[in-house]
Amino acid sequence: MTRRSVSVDNALNDYLISVGVTETPVQRELREFTATHRMAKMQIAPEQGQLLAWLARLIGVRRYLELGVFTGYSTLTMAQALPDDGEIIACDVSESFTDIARAYWQKAGVADRIRLELQPALLTLRTLIDEEGRAGSFDMAFIDADKPGTPDYYEACLTLVRPGGIIAIDNIFLGGRVVEPLASDPPGVHVMHAFNVSLAHDERVSPCLLPIGDGMTLLIRR
Ligand SMILES: C[S@@+](CC[C@H](N)C(=O)[O-])C[C@H]1O[C@@H](n2cnc3c(N)ncnc32)[C@H](O)[C@@H]1O
Repeated sequence: MTRRSVSVDNALNDYLISVGVTETPVQRELREFTATHRMAKMQIAPEQGQLLAWLARLIGVRRYLELGVFTGYSTLTMAQALPDDGEIIACDVSESFTDIARAYWQKAGVADRIRLELQPALLTLRTLIDEEGRAGSFDMAFIDADKPGTPDYYEACLTLVRPGGIIAIDNIFLGGRVVEPLASDPPGVHVMHAFNVSLAHDERVSPCLLPIGDGMTLLIRR
């Protein structure tokens, strides 16, 4: 029994991944490739992917929205958890990062279920709401793009995700800086702290903040 979450050292992390994370060969190959990338730290932790995919299976996600693709690990993980007729709209601004993603999605045979939108995510979200009539049509959304944009992405995702659907938000701890934001911290730290605090009073959702990865919030859309 323990009253607080354990801290995970390297040995325990290796154990967790080897025993608790189930990956397809392509998924593992992508994770190992991404580990050699100069921006490797941007990828989610594999156990986060395991949790997101598990949630997708639990609630039967067919339509999934992702903000922040990078080399495509989270997208691939989710694509493999969706049924054959599943649909993913994936948002990023980087052609070079997502060229890598596309190659692995192709290799895994899931590229046909992923629509990649290469423009600022908020533009894509507004198009989905205002022009494509997609309000309430997604079962799940994962917010993992530029961090200062998180509150705006959240508001748009609240419109796009159906009641009973899930919104997941990554990097809510920002490396622990949200605990006591300093005046000298970048504005994004203050934005994330205020956002984290605001969720407790947000009656549109049921939140659950988890110390996984760099902190991840799961919300059920009421
Ligand atoms: C933390 S990474 C995403 C990691 C990814 N979920 C994974 O598991 O590997 C953030 C991504 O957001 C993208 N990004 C930055 N600003 C953006 C914006 N305004 N709209 C959409 N994507 C953006 C970056 O290009 C980067 O690929």
